[in-house]
Amino acid sequence: MRILALLLLAGLCDLGLCRTRDPFVWLSYLRSRYRTYGAPPADLNGGDCPLECDCPPSYPVAMYCNGRGLQHVPYVPSRMKYVYLQNNQIGGIQDEAFENATGIVWLMMHQNLLTSDQIGPNVFAKLTSLERLYLGNNLLDRVPPNLPASIRDLRLTSNNISDLEEGAFRGMDDLTVLQLHDNSIEEVGGALKSLPSLTLLDISNNRLRKIPGLLPERLHQLYLESNSIDAVPADFLRKLSQLQFVRLANNKLTDGGIPSNAFNVTGLIELDLSYNKLERIPPVSTKLQNLYLQANQIKEFSLGSFCKVTDIRNYSNLRVLRLDGNEINSGDFPPEAGLCLRLARSIDI
Ligand SMILES: *[C@@H]1O[C@H](CO)[C@@H](O)[C@H](O)[C@H]1NC(C)=O
Ligand SMILES: *[C@@H]1O[C@H](CO)[C@@H](O)[C@H](O)[C@H]1NC(C)=O
Ligand SMILES: *[C@@H]1O[C@H](CO)[C@@H](O)[C@H](O)[C@H]1NC(C)=O
Ligand SMILES: *[C@@H]1O[C@H](CO)[C@@H](O)[C@H](O)[C@H]1NC(C)=O
Repeated sequence: MRILALLLLAGLCDLGLCRTRDPFVWLSYLRSRYRTYGAPPADLNGGDCPLECDCPPSYPVAMYCNGRGLQHVPYVPSRMKYVYLQNNQIGGIQDEAFENATGIVWLMMHQNLLTSDQIGPNVFAKLTSLERLYLGNNLLDRVPPNLPASIRDLRLTSNNISDLEEGAFRGMDDLTVLQLHDNSIEEVGGALKSLPSLTLLDISNNRLRKIPGLLPERLHQLYLESNSIDAVPADFLRKLSQLQFVRLANNKLTDGGIPSNAFNVTGLIELDLSYNKLERIPPVSTKLQNLYLQANQIKEFSLGSFCKVTDIRNYSNLRVLRLDGNEINSGDFPPEAGLCLRLARSIDI
């Protein structure tokens, strides 16, 4: 938040930066700004630095080459750990590109023109300290091969990936965040099943027609909105007992596709089923806190979906309930609802 405050003070929100949630965008923006106002050239004491980049002497293990119209990866000195190459026009990466900088920890290459055919098969393999690899907003049609097992945060959003090969993430035992939103994925197959550390999986805005069958067991957040999913397997949430946030908005879910009690599991905190075709409120656990059902075709307010037996000791933990854009109105809200939904801070009908 300190960074946001700085941005606000500097009046930079006008540039739209405040809308980005990615702290690295802010950080690199601040650094590039610092440079514009006359940072000393890096090579004075920080070590060598390619001409087209900026290597702040105060932070000699980082090189900032973002937004410079680059078409190739520049020479990367061996001391580098944080390499910012995003927002250029780099179309390919040769196998040797990072041969002298195998200690890279963060590699930011989002917003370039990378195609899968132009990435050497072993570009990333030797980067055995790599933790963050950002390749979003490129032209990739597959997950790059031979990714190092050290990666924790892999972002491949806004590419054109349609298939996830079975071995695409093999051995990535530390992978915690995997962002695949805005691609063309139809099937996940077994590619994700053995990722023991994965807690956040975002495959929203793809072409999935069903919920992937083999998902890692430690997931906390599963984002599947804006696909074409029409059904939910009965045991899907029971197998994923750590899940807290499930987003299925903007799919094709109907009542027929939701087995009774599919969503009545105690771990869930937030469930987003908005913009589907539900006619009933599915039963949910009394532990659920946020439920989004707006823009469905729900015709009745069934209090039994929240509390089977309403009495002073039995009540729902719902804080936020959205039912606007359905076929009910506030007159359908049963008088007993006040007891069951006593913790609700906001109910939109
Ligand atoms: C790596 O270092 C060697 C020896 O200094 C040099 O010849 C080579 O060009 C460097 N490779 C890259 C990609 O910069
Ligand atoms: C995306 O991939 C499909 C084939 O899977 C191809 O037909 C299409 O042209 C690609 N789109 C872009 C923008 O590269
Ligand atoms: C949810 O499941 C529990 C038992 O697991 C059951 O007692 C409760 O009635 C169910 N809730 C709803 C709304 O069906
Ligand atoms: C709470 O409701 C459940 C059914 O959902 C019922 O079996 C149980 O007896 C109720 N508990 C209390 C304390 O009323």
